Amino acid sequence: MIKYQKKRYNHKEIKAQFPIFNSGDLVYLDSAASSQKPNSVLKSINEVYTNHYANIHRGVYKLSQVATDMHEDAREIVKNFINANSVREIIFVRGATEAINLVASTVADTKIKEGDEIILSRLEHHSNIVPWQIIAKKHNAVIKIAESDENGEVSFESVFKNVTSKTKFISITHISNAIGSIIPVKQICKEAKSRGIYTLIDGCQAAPILEVDVQDMECDFYVFSGHKTYGPTGIGVLYGREEILSEAPPYQGGGDMIDKVTFENTTYAGLPSKYEAGTPNIVGAIGLGSALKWMQEIGMNNIYDHSKNLINEGISILKNIKGLRIIGEPSNRGGVVSFIYKDIHSHDLGTLLNTYNIAVRTGHHCAQPTMERYRVPSTVRASVGYYNNKEDFEALAEGILKVGKVFEKV
Ligand SMILES: Cc1ncc(COP(=O)(O)O)c(C=O)c1O
Repeated sequence: MIKYQKKRYNHKEIKAQFPIFNSGDLVYLDSAASSQKPNSVLKSINEVYTNHYANIHRGVYKLSQVATDMHEDAREIVKNFINANSVREIIFVRGATEAINLVASTVADTKIKEGDEIILSRLEHHSNIVPWQIIAKKHNAVIKIAESDENGEVSFESVFKNVTSKTKFISITHISNAIGSIIPVKQICKEAKSRGIYTLIDGCQAAPILEVDVQDMECDFYVFSGHKTYGPTGIGVLYGREEILSEAPPYQGGGDMIDKVTFENTTYAGLPSKYEAGTPNIVGAIGLGSALKWMQEIGMNNIYDHSKNLINEGISILKNIKGLRIIGEPSNRGGVVSFIYKDIHSHDLGTLLNTYNIAVRTGHHCAQPTMERYRVPSTVRASVGYYNNKEDFEALAEGILKVGKVFEKV
């Protein structure tokens, strides 16, 4: 694994790397939905389109070979970022949603039989619920839920008390996007492995702030989206253990994923090409590579420390506001906090905060079962990136109080 040096956080220097903050006084607290992009990522995207662009893999000319090398270098960066064993285990996809659908409709589709069980947690994003429901319906399988407690935690025990001899898959988030809880996925994956249960970890909220080591975690699949890790949209990663993916059926058919095609039969390419049909998001993958490099240059330990300290500071600031209730108090938290304020609807609060140039997410956060558990229809969610600091939470608190005053007059 990469050893990171401890670095002092220089807010001015970091923020200056993000052109979105150049104009005005934007308070951006919505990185859990999507993060802003540093200059190095924007530059690399522009650079490929300007100087190195061509379709990849099939070209015999230099431009195509350079573009191919850049694309495959990005795969190597992803492999190192999550410490996968081989680049064959790194599949470029559109995002986490596609990655989960891919696993559900290939590996799970062939492994799951009638009566088998799939365990999800209460805190899943809809992306890690619906693909499993589709597969469960198709095979008459059963979905079981590992419940979260009042603090918003999903424990090892709450997962394993659902396990039976019929459990085939555990698919669980690493960090809840709605509450922020960090789930003990390493402990869960190790135990699942010893019982022959497949594991998929949804790393959407974890890859941007935690050092991920898929070999140490012993998960079978790990997924994340590039746009939440300071990279472009339309690109994401499926890590899958080679011995599983090499035996699984293809996901989509088309160019690049084949070995030989006749009208009677097709044989498939090896990994990762088998799962990358058609012209891929070439520039997206290269941009993602730059984003992960940017994070590695800062050091994942430094990103995590900043995120943890800042979210805790932010929560302390929010807790001083009378009438504000934090939803979920997990002991181990990522860069996310959800709350409600008085009886003001989250959309009203978010809309009025926008008038002070404060961007927060409002609604159910694509996690309706989580909202149901905490008996709220929706929340306001503030989430941090490496470019945020305490002043952003101070501005948020000030904004909330101003909105409160507006509603007092109504
Ligand atoms: C925990 C989690 N899983 C899955 C997703 C879906 O990611 P995407 O829309 O990039 O595919 C998100 C996005 O918010 C998320 O936070």
